[in-house]
Amino acid sequence: MSTQPTSRRIQTVAERMSPFTRYLTESTWAERQHEPGICDFVFGNPHEMPLPGLVDALQRWSIPQNELWYAYKESEPSARAAVVVSLRERRGLPFEPDDIFLTNGAFAALSVALGAVVDPGDEVIFISPPWFFYEALIAAAGASPVRVKIDLETFDLDLGAIAAAITAKTRAIIVNSPNNPTGKIYPPRTLEGLARLLTEASQHYDRPVYLLSDESYSRIIFDDRDYPSPTAYYPNSLLIYTYGKTLLAPGQRLGYIALPPTMPDRELLRAAIFASQVMTGYAFPNALLQYALPDLERLSIDIAHLQHKRDRLVAALRDTGYQVHVPEGTFYLLPRSPWADDWAFTDLLAEYDILCLPGAVVELPGYFRISLTANDAMIDRALPGFAAAMQRAMPTLPADSSSDTLS
Ligand SMILES: Cc1ncc(COP(=O)(O)O)c(C=O)c1O
Repeated sequence: MSTQPTSRRIQTVAERMSPFTRYLTESTWAERQHEPGICDFVFGNPHEMPLPGLVDALQRWSIPQNELWYAYKESEPSARAAVVVSLRERRGLPFEPDDIFLTNGAFAALSVALGAVVDPGDEVIFISPPWFFYEALIAAAGASPVRVKIDLETFDLDLGAIAAAITAKTRAIIVNSPNNPTGKIYPPRTLEGLARLLTEASQHYDRPVYLLSDESYSRIIFDDRDYPSPTAYYPNSLLIYTYGKTLLAPGQRLGYIALPPTMPDRELLRAAIFASQVMTGYAFPNALLQYALPDLERLSIDIAHLQHKRDRLVAALRDTGYQVHVPEGTFYLLPRSPWADDWAFTDLLAEYDILCLPGAVVELPGYFRISLTANDAMIDRALPGFAAAMQRAMPTLPADSSSDTLS
């Protein structure tokens, strides 16, 4: 008889997410996040009251209009229709309602998408530095995660490294643009190159390599930039979206998978996605959120204000000797840690009541991440502390480290 009390698979999965769980339980953030006066820059969480429009929509749609109001829901027609209108407007493509699958955020969308396309033994490529959970989600789907690093000079995809990682077992690649944590929007040239090599691999091995395009931050874009969606370049793409970022309400779980009209064999995938969704623990959003979706589609946090916070922090950090690039989108700044040990440096920042995420938690030692979702008062309070921590760290800086190589 086995003495193993838990499933081996979940142990492997837990192992894959252990840097995150360790941070959640053993870090200075875990100890101090609720202290009064703390400046919490760790996660993309709200530090201000929710959007009034969000609260109004939830109140309005919570009132039942018929006896089936809170019955089991799949992807509600009104929610699908609103997503189709939005995608047609934003992407200029005739997305179809039957190709929209409402999920509880991008977490579930990724899990459902992987469940629909991968078999045990398949490989799925993810890009490092990654979002915390890609590796665990791939392992949970029974596939092998294959890590490919970005080009650290440019924060762009390293197409040569991706090509080298593709094998006969490669079934999918997860690409996240704009990228958490680098803030990079992959440019058309890169996406064309990626599409070329995925097409060649699919032809060579005679089965499609799917592109799972994590577009969680596709509406958190700075400087009026265009957003080239990876799905526009490669037909075998599954578009993954969450409203958690645009609404800055990640506890209200709402997102979707969309199959672009350019995708071949969509009908087969529709059935697979639906089955995967049911088997992923009925991964549909609550009825209330689906009714509210047409209203929520029109809402967003103030992107100009987010950009203002980015600009203010970048300027102040550079003035005090930090190396930091300017992100093109997302919630995050990614300064270089003046110490190679980024955990130690974030502990030094914590002495000034500033909490930031060590880069090592997202496979990027030597950096730390700042979330721009901190409020203005936190930024006001934190700026002198960032400067003071740099002054204390300065003696250990290499001579050329004040130059900014990643603008
Ligand atoms: C890149 C990326 N993908 C997916 C998610 C998951 O989003 P949600 O929690 O809204 O499902 C996040 C959230 O932080 C993210 O940063």
